[in-house]
Amino acid sequence: MHHPSLFTSVTLGRHALKNRIVLPPLTRQRSGQPGNVPTDLMACYYRQRAGAGFMISEGTQIEPRGQGYAWTPGIYSQAQIDGWRKVTEAVHAEGGIIFAQLWHVGRVSHTALQPNGDVPVAPSAIQAKKVKSFIETGRGAGTLVEPSVPRELSVAEIKQLVALYAQAAKNALAAGFDGVEIHSANGYLVNQFISTHANHRTDEYGGSLQNRLRFLREIVEGVGEVVGPDRLGVRFTPLFTSTDQDRVYIGFVEDDPHQTYIEAIKVLEAAGVAYVSIAEADWDNAPDLPEDFRRAVRQAFSGRILYAGRYTAERGARLVDAGLADLIAFGRPFIANPDLPERIANGWPLNTLDPVTIYGGEEQGFTDYPVYAQASGLTTK
Ligand SMILES: Cc1cc2nc3c(=O)[nH]c(=O)nc-3n(C[C@H](O)[C@H](O)[C@H](O)COP(=O)(O)O)c2cc1C
Repeated sequence: MHHPSLFTSVTLGRHALKNRIVLPPLTRQRSGQPGNVPTDLMACYYRQRAGAGFMISEGTQIEPRGQGYAWTPGIYSQAQIDGWRKVTEAVHAEGGIIFAQLWHVGRVSHTALQPNGDVPVAPSAIQAKKVKSFIETGRGAGTLVEPSVPRELSVAEIKQLVALYAQAAKNALAAGFDGVEIHSANGYLVNQFISTHANHRTDEYGGSLQNRLRFLREIVEGVGEVVGPDRLGVRFTPLFTSTDQDRVYIGFVEDDPHQTYIEAIKVLEAAGVAYVSIAEADWDNAPDLPEDFRRAVRQAFSGRILYAGRYTAERGARLVDAGLADLIAFGRPFIANPDLPERIANGWPLNTLDPVTIYGGEEQGFTDYPVYAQASGLTTK
């Protein structure tokens, strides 16, 4: 077997995983319309990838205001819960384990996506730069747009949002998910509270690092009560790439990323969260995470540690062997290779990703990537 360290057994909370290869959250913008409802085709897509030891759903908005891109699925209506149930049943039929990624984009949205055409909500009224929202312009067609200038949330509204996360977690369990992941990465709402670039509040949710972590802490506690901390994970993007925020198009470079994210991870440790997922800078030529940060994560956190971002099986196995990672996620490779774990185990070549069919559309580039036996003309038994 190739890369055996990716195939040793590991537990995650109450689950025993069949391997350490993870399907990370991947937005594909193919939910059913109207209503952003998960479809049978999505169930097929996830079923095809259930060879992963652990899977996380694409980001799913916890409420209508949490949407920043057309056609992403939600987890707040009964129809959405019923749609997701088809996904979880398909995954479970293949012996897979899947968590729902609970998503709220905050300021990375546009009035066209918001209920009543309102402006998006955020910790502070600061427009998101360098990122785009995506709105529908016609049936199946859409365009990237500048996010709208958001308005600042009141404290009462922040408390309501914490309750909405807990409700979304209840909905995820009702839909048959094995747990939930809080999306606190990539510049979206929870990340906006943590970052000095997006949070200029002067109340208990802004200012000091502990205040900026308060929203996260309250969500972790609220959602932890619903699902149990052993069925809860949190995703962060600690970017060290440069002190130049302008180079970063997703997420934030804090003045002190090391301290910011080690303190954030301590919030998870205190709550007994099952795993922390670290989404690394994933653009071409992005620098690697500092080794001392990886070591500090291991020291601060006793749950499972998951890394994603331009991993090859080789690099992932090396990180597991070094004792710095427990789980490795492969994003773009998993889009193009439904049987990725089998390909890694056997050293088979990988399909290449078609960039044109990533977002939106139907089967093409979604459920029609061939497994290896098909690609090579062999018949499967
Ligand atoms: C098409 C696409 C959609 C993504 N959607 C999400 C998402 O919904 N939530 C999230 O946390 N990360 C998302 N990501 C980031 C991935 O989970 C992952 O961290 C990233 O692709 C790096 O891994 P890779 O280099 O193996 O692709 C997305 C990435 C891609 C390419």
